[in-house]
Amino acid sequence: MKNNDDKNGINRRGFIQKAALIGAVAGISSVFNINKAKGFCYKKISTPYKRTLGSGISSMDVSSIGFGCMGLNYHRGPYPDKSFCINLLHLAVDHGYTLFDTAESYGPFTNEELVGEGLSKIHKAGKIAITSKFGHDYDYLTGKPLETQNSRPEHIRYVVENSLKRLKVEYIDLMYQHRLDKNVPIEDVVLTLKELIKEGKIKNYGLCEVNGDTIKRAHKIHPVAAIQSEYHLMYRNVEKDVLPLCEELGIGFVPYSPINRGMLGGMLNEYTNFNNISDNRNILPRFQTESLRKNMKFVEAIIEFGRTRGMTPAQISLAWLLSKKPFVVPIPGTTKPAHMIENINTLNFNLTKNDINELEGILANIPICGERYPLSQQKLVEQ
Ligand SMILES: NC(=O)c1ccc[n+]([C@@H]2O[C@H](COP(=O)([O-])OP(=O)(O)OC[C@H]3O[C@@H](n4cnc5c(N)ncnc54)[C@H](OP(=O)(O)O)[C@@H]3O)[C@@H](O)[C@H]2O)c1
Repeated sequence: MKNNDDKNGINRRGFIQKAALIGAVAGISSVFNINKAKGFCYKKISTPYKRTLGSGISSMDVSSIGFGCMGLNYHRGPYPDKSFCINLLHLAVDHGYTLFDTAESYGPFTNEELVGEGLSKIHKAGKIAITSKFGHDYDYLTGKPLETQNSRPEHIRYVVENSLKRLKVEYIDLMYQHRLDKNVPIEDVVLTLKELIKEGKIKNYGLCEVNGDTIKRAHKIHPVAAIQSEYHLMYRNVEKDVLPLCEELGIGFVPYSPINRGMLGGMLNEYTNFNNISDNRNILPRFQTESLRKNMKFVEAIIEFGRTRGMTPAQISLAWLLSKKPFVVPIPGTTKPAHMIENINTLNFNLTKNDINELEGILANIPICGERYPLSQQKLVEQ
């Protein structure tokens, strides 16, 4: 899709005009919804626009839906050029997103550079929060990923210093450990992060894909602001232990891949071609042709459920997550202005308890085909 502003005749002005039009239409249709079943027009009550991740000294107020920046130039197939992405990030700020998620490993490095170029001035003005991650290891001369994890204290410091430079910010609002390093006790990791907080280089810290035991050990050393793990309608493991523990300890929860990497957006099917260089869905079991074909039943049920409520399948997926706990802040990623607006407009809807029960009842009878990760990646997560 490599968009070229000149070739496509899309400059920033045109981009904003187009997006504003889409936004206006989406906004109007999402505030007033025709409830076909009852046959009347009514105004829905909005979900609170802001949420808090963490508590006490480790809390941060953010928009109830954040923006996952990874797919702007990594792992989600063909991506737009840099100026398009930067315009999209600015437009996301205009539409109320105040949480932007990136990582050292996206690119690697280039996603942080893009976020820095697009958002550092807005961050310096205090309008948004940027989160990033350390923990994978690289040959830093070539950028080649190594198979090992690295959360040694000196390595965390090295990554944070470089992330700060690439992001062009004075501090990172929340720094996550991307994956556990089995060779470094979590206590040592958190002690290092606590020092970085004292030094003002990061404001808060979080952990990804860890189990309850690790969360408790970390939280004892310094309060965790947020856990970021996979959570969506097709992968609900965190509901067993992690979400209740977050509630008990006052920790925020950030579901990553909340639209299941696009599958729950209703725009993929068994014929979708995942680029084998820039799209990691190419190797994910759930996205292989036969699995995708079978999983369409699940997606079609969500489309059908949304149809009578005036909601798209992506909005149903996000609203379902938001309904789970008040400290849940999903971070969908997109390269499309229309999708960015559609996603944040989910906040104009409210799924009732009855809606949620009905949706879960329908989906409980539809099998999900394929694991979320291949074995090599499953080995890196704790649950
Ligand atoms: N901590 C971790 O280990 C980890 C792992 C993975 C991801 N993450 C974070 O989570 C963020 C999101 O994850 P993700 O990109 O894997 O998955 P996602 O947000 O569930 O899905 C992104 C995909 O959905 C499509 N999409 C977005 N909005 C849509 C809509 N309204 N309708 C239809 N399709 C839509 C996008 O395509 P278009 O571009 O065409 O809209 C994109 O391909 C990442 O950016 C990253 O920050 C963290």
